Amino acid sequence: MTTRNASQGILADENTEARERIVELLKKGYWMEIETVMSYITNSINPDGVRAQEIIESLQQDIQEELGHATEFAKRIKELYGVVPGSMDFKPEQTYLQPPADQVDIVHVIKGVIEAETGAIEHYNRIIKDTDDADPVTQDMVIAILRDEEGHRRLFEGYLREYEAEGLA
Ligand SMILES: [Fe+2]
Ligand SMILES: [Fe+2]
Repeated sequence: MTTRNASQGILADENTEARERIVELLKKGYWMEIETVMSYITNSINPDGVRAQEIIESLQQDIQEELGHATEFAKRIKELYGVVPGSMDFKPEQTYLQPPADQVDIVHVIKGVIEAETGAIEHYNRIIKDTDDADPVTQDMVIAILRDEEGHRRLFEGYLREYEAEGLA
């Protein structure tokens, strides 16, 4: 007996084009998460000073969440008959999360994190729109991830507000 392909849903032959388009969006999300893990490790270790501790602890927690997101994107790429890309395909984009000139410059880190989270929020909203009807499973996954990113952004907005209130940002 030969197996047959699913006749319905994103795995169906007739949806190959949509599926490949979604895989490309997922690859971009995967790389964004991987770069965020790198940047958050960097920026959770470098900062100096008493005030840096809250930011450091917050980023340490986020690193684990972003790593989980990267793994979810990778798994979904494979489920959609894609191939998770190798490291040679990686192209860095987070210019704003490079180490500051002075390691007590926490505002630089906070603003960089907000920028990274904003980029993720924008890309994931796009995936949610693009998978509407076509792929509810990917959409459901990305909605859950989007909630995490909105939470991350909101937390760091609060940190920035505190620095602004004190005239430090
Ligand atoms: Fe993430
Ligand atoms: Fe995040």
